[in-house]
Amino acid sequence: MNTAFTDRFGIRYPIVQAPMAGGPTTPEMVIAVSEAGGLGSLAGGYVTPDVLSQQISVVRANTDNPFAVNLFVPANPNVTADAQAMWDALQGAREALGIFTSMPAWNADDHFLEKVQIVLSQRVPIVSFTFGIPDAAVLHRFKEEGRLLVGSATSVAEARQLEASGMDAIVAQGSEAGGHRGTFFGDGRPTLIGTIALTPQIVDAVNIPVLAAGGVMDGRGLAAVLALGAAGAQMGTAFLRAKESGASALLQRALVEREETETVVTRALTGKYVRGFHTTFIEQLEKGEVPIPDYPIQHALTSPIRKAAAASGEASFMSLWAGQGHRMAASLGAGDLVVRFAQEAAEIFARFSE
Ligand SMILES: Cc1cc2nc3c(=O)[nH]c(=O)nc-3n(C[C@H](O)[C@H](O)[C@H](O)COP(=O)(O)O)c2cc1C
Repeated sequence: MNTAFTDRFGIRYPIVQAPMAGGPTTPEMVIAVSEAGGLGSLAGGYVTPDVLSQQISVVRANTDNPFAVNLFVPANPNVTADAQAMWDALQGAREALGIFTSMPAWNADDHFLEKVQIVLSQRVPIVSFTFGIPDAAVLHRFKEEGRLLVGSATSVAEARQLEASGMDAIVAQGSEAGGHRGTFFGDGRPTLIGTIALTPQIVDAVNIPVLAAGGVMDGRGLAAVLALGAAGAQMGTAFLRAKESGASALLQRALVEREETETVVTRALTGKYVRGFHTTFIEQLEKGEVPIPDYPIQHALTSPIRKAAAASGEASFMSLWAGQGHRMAASLGAGDLVVRFAQEAAEIFARFSE
């Protein structure tokens, strides 16, 4: 199972547990994956700098193996859409859930620079980014201290920019992937190239290790993306039912009970394209007449609704991020999943080399 990625990043198996912000990724999940020989990734998005710092300390105290922290690269939202009009349009949903709050402020940069400082001072060995490329000064500070950097691409053009910026590896995020699209370049339309088409095109375009993401759910998927030239896989949905997962019971149930045809890519809930289970709330927002503001404005405006819905078990108003392979998600310890995926892939390769 040695690849350019495992060699460079000092891990045993070419398996990265995807950072999953919003609750699914717990420090326990990261510890279990890194201890098993994969690369666990803490999700630095949405949490406060203090919480991120505590989570890094917990992981540090429980594994000596490499782990990563993932950060959201801030972008400038287009503020022409009227936030107040959207807030007013959401009144009915708030009333249905008994929420009576005033319009929340949005945090434009997710405390990016504070989090960068924490990751530097707590000596996190590997840092991954999504939603763009940090500015050169930030990258320089990480590089100076020998940290390994991973960027996320949804197209060949993005992968080339990430390589030119000095990244050490690139996640090639195919359209099957659960969660937000990492797209940061283009004309604003969603970039939706499937993993089987995207991975080899990015592999051909860059000279650094590529990690395929999107629809890789077990050893079959891992073997497939290694055959496409990837040096590893970044897997998210496959870990949502892990013993250590913080995903809500409703999301975990949906992974099993809903059909593979039921995820959609939408910007209705957060203002940025994301793949998750279809809900009536998404449909209402998409059909509505009020333009949807960009991320993170729409994310902040719908957040009280999605949080209250999660607390009261009202699935139709929740965000239920998941990838197209969700029916294959197995319920095991996260470390056992890593070992199982590696064994399954090794068996497949052994079968073909007989
Ligand atoms: C619930 C969920 C949350 C996610 N959150 C993040 C995140 O915080 N940062 C990130 O870089 N990617 C995030 N992703 C995307 C993953 O990095 C990865 O691209 C995706 O999980 C791969 O597809 P798969 O879900 O089919 O394995 C998330 C994915 C899911 C399913």
